[in-house]
Parts: sequence; C-alpha cells; structure tokens
Amino acid sequence: DVPVIAIDGPSASGKGTVAALVAKELGFHYLDSGAIYRVTAYAALDRGVALDDEVGLAAMARTLNLHFDGIEVYLDGRPVGDAIRTEEAGRAASRIAALPALRAALLDLQRGFRQLPGLVTDGRDMGSVVFPDASVKVFLTATPEERANRRYKQLIDKGFDANLAALVQDLRERDARDANRASAPLRQEADAHLLETTALTIAQAVAKVLEWYRR
Ligand code: CDP
Repeated sequence: DVPVIAIDGPSASGKGTVAALVAKELGFHYLDSGAIYRVTAYAALDRGVALDDEVGLAAMARTLNLHFDGIEVYLDGRPVGDAIRTEEAGRAASRIAALPALRAALLDLQRGFRQLPGLVTDGRDMGSVVFPDASVKVFLTATPEERANRRYKQLIDKGFDANLAALVQDLRERDARDANRASAPLRQEADAHLLETTALTIAQAVAKVLEWYRR
C-alpha cells in the first residue's frame, strides 16, 4: 500500500508550499493537483476550446501530454510553469473545475502519481474523491485576508502586477465557487485534521503534518 498524505484547502492558503516541503522531508513524490487544472485551462485557452464546453474539455483532458519535473510543468514538451501561474489561468482553472465530466477525466492522471515510496498531494478533493483512503488527510486554511497577503507576495516576487483589494475579492469569489459547486465541493472531511495557519510559520505547519503522519 503506497502511503498518501492529502492536503486540501482553499485558494492561496499555502497548502502547496507545505505539501512540497513535507514531500521533500519524507522523500515522497509531490502532486500539485491545482497545476493539472491550470494546465488544462491553459491548453483550452491556447487551443480555442470554450471554457464551458464540458464534453470538449473532458476529451482534451484525457489526451493531455503533460509531465512534471520537480516544480516545472511541461505541456507537449514545452515548459508552461509561468504561463499557468497567471491570475487569468487561475480564474479559468477555477471555472472549468466546476465541470463534473472534466473532473472525472482527470482522475486517472492524478491517481497515477501514487507511487512508492509515497505521495504528498494538495488540492480541493484529494482526501474526498481522488485518494479517499489517504493515510493522513489535512484541511489547511487561513483567513481570506491572510491568504490574499500570501498570494500578493507570491505574485510580486514573480514580477507580476498585483492589487491586494482585487485579490481579496477574487479569493472570496473563488471560495464561493469551490464550496458551492455540485461536483467535489471544497469542505473539511470528517476524518481530516484541521490546520489553521493564519498565525503559523511554514515550518510549524510542516511539522504538524509530519507529526500526524508519524503518529
Ligand atoms: O490556489 P489557487 O486556487 O489559486 O490555485 P490552484 O490550487 O492552483 O487551483 C486552481 C483551481 O483549480 C482552483 O481555483 C480550484 O477551483 C481548482 N482545483 C480543483 O477544483 N480541485 C483540485 N484538486 C485542485 C484545484
């Protein structure tokens, strides 16, 4: 049985940072499932597939030529890491993520990352839908204001423009879409540990997840 640590939570909560560090500490593989939704959205924009064409998007998703190397993501052999991190790609990803057929089309791809010695993954439905038998489930969150601050710093560090008020607004809209969609809505699973990180450092959050896994 290949162990899985599933970390779910809202937009810009820092779950990706924590998940990647936990993976590094344990020598496990890491899957950023949001990147898969972002690449799919990017490919749709690139190929002119409409963001509400559920059947077309699902068909495209099943044949995506995608691979990960460390934190870089390749689509058809081209690095697209920066292109998928834009707010435009994030918004498009959030829209297509509401489509059940598209989500179903991405299941096998995501489950394929479960390989020895283990997997740490982050997203919205890692513990509920993709890896319901995960060894440890974590619901990682922070206040919308703190998450907007984190996203702001991340965008500025990457040299993008950013507006804090617009980010708070966008996060609230994204939270509502993630929580209210019919397919795999974001919520804390009954068997998930709650990790509220507003007042925690990254190192403290990582230590907590490791403690739950080793217990
Ligand atoms: O953190 P942020 O929302 O900006 O981005 P992300 O984690 O890279 O995910 C992009 C979008 O994909 C999110 O807004 C979610 O709506 C969606 N997503 C999802 O529905 N299920 C996942 N397992 C991961 C991401």
